[in-house]
Amino acid sequence: MRLIKLKLKLNSYPIIFSDNNEDLITYFKKYLSNRKIFFISDTNVSKFYLKQLQKLCLQEKFNVYSYVFKAGEGQKTIDTLNKLYNYALSVGIDRQFAVVALGGGVVGDTAGFFASTYMRGLKLVQVPTSLLAMVDSSIGGKTGVNIEKGKNIVGAFYQPQFVFVNTQFLKTLDPKHLKNGMAEIIKYAISFDQKFFNKLNLIFQKSIITEKDFKDIIYQCCKFKADIVQRDEKEVTGIRELLNFGHTFAHALETITKYKQFLHGEAVAIGILFVAILAEKIKFCDLATKQKIEEILINAGFNEKISKKLNHNTLLNLMKKDKKSVSQIIKFVLPRKIGQICSRIEVNDQIILKAIEEISK
Ligand SMILES: NC(=O)c1ccc[n+]([C@@H]2O[C@H](COP(=O)([O-])OP(=O)(O)OC[C@H]3O[C@@H](n4cnc5c(N)ncnc54)[C@H](O)[C@@H]3O)[C@@H](O)[C@H]2O)c1
Repeated sequence: MRLIKLKLKLNSYPIIFSDNNEDLITYFKKYLSNRKIFFISDTNVSKFYLKQLQKLCLQEKFNVYSYVFKAGEGQKTIDTLNKLYNYALSVGIDRQFAVVALGGGVVGDTAGFFASTYMRGLKLVQVPTSLLAMVDSSIGGKTGVNIEKGKNIVGAFYQPQFVFVNTQFLKTLDPKHLKNGMAEIIKYAISFDQKFFNKLNLIFQKSIITEKDFKDIIYQCCKFKADIVQRDEKEVTGIRELLNFGHTFAHALETITKYKQFLHGEAVAIGILFVAILAEKIKFCDLATKQKIEEILINAGFNEKISKKLNHNTLLNLMKKDKKSVSQIIKFVLPRKIGQICSRIEVNDQIILKAIEEISK
């Protein structure tokens, strides 16, 4: 069992790495003295793991309730939350219960926001089951849901008691969602560590990624994320904004395609290519850096472009409404070189539109 301690000003919590779900129960006992648990999961994840975890909890005389909602980004809504609040109240979930988010980023974000608001806050445990959730969304306390006009618009910072990462869960994750998580991993590599970037690029060139590769990659990414969150928990100093590398464009793309055409990671991969093109256009990075970014994306299997039919001005305007934009001015996170990125960079609209043109087919 490995552990990373995430140290925050007001509280600290561990990210626990274990292949054994019994360790999860041990940590429940350590952190949740009331032994009352409310599992929240989705239809895909629950069919593999919920019963087993419930059983382990019941053996230890925990009081257990569960709520399962339909899988998919389309469910990360206020409507799902509303159903959750009503269900919780109807079965008697009170402030002694802890919410356990068992699933990918959609479950983690929705259950996390539920935990932060229901009866003014219940304890929360994140049990990520997708690659993306393991390396990114379960860590750092960002929770929330989408509304029709924008992604993650309603939310809160709400830190869990602990995060439990069991990479064995990945055995049932389908390959397209595994690839989806790879985009966030590439994001960390470009952003923070040239050596890790080179290692990852070599791994992508092999036909098989071993279990040990996965474990090492996930552990390393959790370290990157924990380090950034520790330095800027609530995204005020600009450091945490670095994690949005590739995301300004990705969010606009997801919104314009109504979350239906691209998985989050696919949109992030296109967003990363977009900022690489943008950075090279304004000579913020050199051509070689842009090419290395293109290469790693292709090696990882990301070679999609966006449809020419998408309205480029709408994409531009959506980016202007991004949470990071100030008075309609988009603040980009751009690559300087592999292992180094900078936030809050402004780029002229005409250049932005040219870069969108380049990633369209
Ligand atoms: N809070 C944050 O800091 C943060 C960071 C990045 C992304 N996100 C959010 O995360 C979401 C995307 O997360 P995601 O890619 O995990 O999506 P997801 O939760 O929809 O999971 C992807 C799919 O895999 C299934 N699944 C998950 N684990 C499985 C397993 N072990 N076995 C079988 N099926 C499994 C899910 O049911 C779903 O169908 C987006 O909403 C994004 O906005 C949040």
